[in-house]
Amino acid sequence: MILDPNSVSIAPSLLSADFSRLCEEIARIDRGGADIIHLDIMDGHFVPNITFGPPIVAKIRSCTELPFDAHLMVQSPDQFVEPFIDAGVDMISVHLESPGHLQRTLALIRDKGAKAGVVLNPATSIEGLRYILDDLDYILIMSVNPGFGGQAFIPSTIQKLQDLSNMLHEAGKPIPIQLDGGVGPANTAEVTIAGARILVAGSAIFGNPPYEEVIRQMKEAAVV
Ligand code: DX5
Ligand code: ZN
Repeated sequence: MILDPNSVSIAPSLLSADFSRLCEEIARIDRGGADIIHLDIMDGHFVPNITFGPPIVAKIRSCTELPFDAHLMVQSPDQFVEPFIDAGVDMISVHLESPGHLQRTLALIRDKGAKAGVVLNPATSIEGLRYILDDLDYILIMSVNPGFGGQAFIPSTIQKLQDLSNMLHEAGKPIPIQLDGGVGPANTAEVTIAGARILVAGSAIFGNPPYEEVIRQMKEAAVV
């Protein structure tokens, strides 16, 4: 079960990997105990940066059997759902702040056979999730503003994680919360106590080899 609210998963973000050796990097994090591969998809419009698209994802699909998780930072999410699922992505998250009709996009992701997630930027309230909880398989809370790796964790995220955990508890919906941005061994205990269950980490892992050691430290520090 890849989306278990009762355990902590580590999802290294390839954004901080060596792009000239992607397959090797993926194999190393796979051997090192990673649970999910986090793919940051940026279109140069929703965020200033550009990363990679479905053809590269299809190429790296054979490098591991771990689930692929696409975090769409794009202006038109609907147009990318099918191409990424065809390329081998298992989970897709869409920003609440992206233009379009979010509930329809989530239904489309599920209809095509992937897990559907919604992402909230640091300044976005959790209220926007209240009426779409039945359409979601996971929720991604950004703890930095999207677009770049290596930024500092925004402290108010802790309160937001606690508020969201309470909202889900009160609604009786144990939907796993993913956390992305400035996460690593140093704040794993605090963020897991606040409710985070899927920890995305880019620079904390790829910037501090050996990768298996960072992943081990995070799993050890997690409090569930
Ligand atoms: C930022 C991306 C993150 C990024 C995290 O837009 O969504 O996934 O790779 O990088 P770190 O872990 O370095 O903050
Ligand atoms: Zn991300």
